[in-house]
Amino acid sequence: MLVFVPPHPLIKHWVSVLRNEQTPCTVFKNAMAELGRLLIYEASRDWLPTISGEIQSPLGPAPVEFIDPRQPIVIVPILRAGLALAEYASSILPATKIYHLGVSRDEETLQPTVYLNKLPQKLPEGSRVFVVDPMLATGGTIIAAIELIKRCGVDNKQIKVISTVAAPPALQKLSEKFPGLHVYSGILDPTVNDKGFIIPGLGDAGDRSFG
Ligand code: PRP
Repeated sequence: MLVFVPPHPLIKHWVSVLRNEQTPCTVFKNAMAELGRLLIYEASRDWLPTISGEIQSPLGPAPVEFIDPRQPIVIVPILRAGLALAEYASSILPATKIYHLGVSRDEETLQPTVYLNKLPQKLPEGSRVFVVDPMLATGGTIIAAIELIKRCGVDNKQIKVISTVAAPPALQKLSEKFPGLHVYSGILDPTVNDKGFIIPGLGDAGDRSFG
């Protein structure tokens, strides 16, 4: 498994806004959306298939290269907090399909429960899937999500995880279970406390995004 933390000052900026306990809800949600846009941009580099050809510009023939519309691009936001991080996904990625997954984590046991699954039975061959969840803490949620996505017929190399903050327990479990997976994160943090919160993290991303 490969974990990427793109070294970009804008990514550091938006992570810092999210970290600040003084950041109000609307600003937090906007920062999450901007960060998601940048991380998806970085994660799509060298990953999206293109088709090339020639068109007429107003001043003559010009070579062109477009994203291949025959190769499906799929976004899977993990509700709720993933909705904020995926806000601009469909505006920067052409012709995406969005399939929502709702997963909530029990506050005591930290076990995930899937309460909404809008994935199709089968994803088209060649699909590229961005799974979007801001927090990778104990890893239970993202593992449950990827297991469901893989049942739709995609392999680890067809999946990229987009997250804001990732912690060692989640990354270790992901690398054991899904070799070949790529994870893009705004930052890596050192620990998860016994309540399942990433330390220092940014608090409860769902509550801070949606009040
Ligand atoms: C949070 C977070 C992740 C999950 C991470 O979601 O947004 O989805 O916990 O925890 P894990 O790696 O230990 O499984 P939460 O269950 O609080 O739902 P929400 O997004 O609706 O707030």
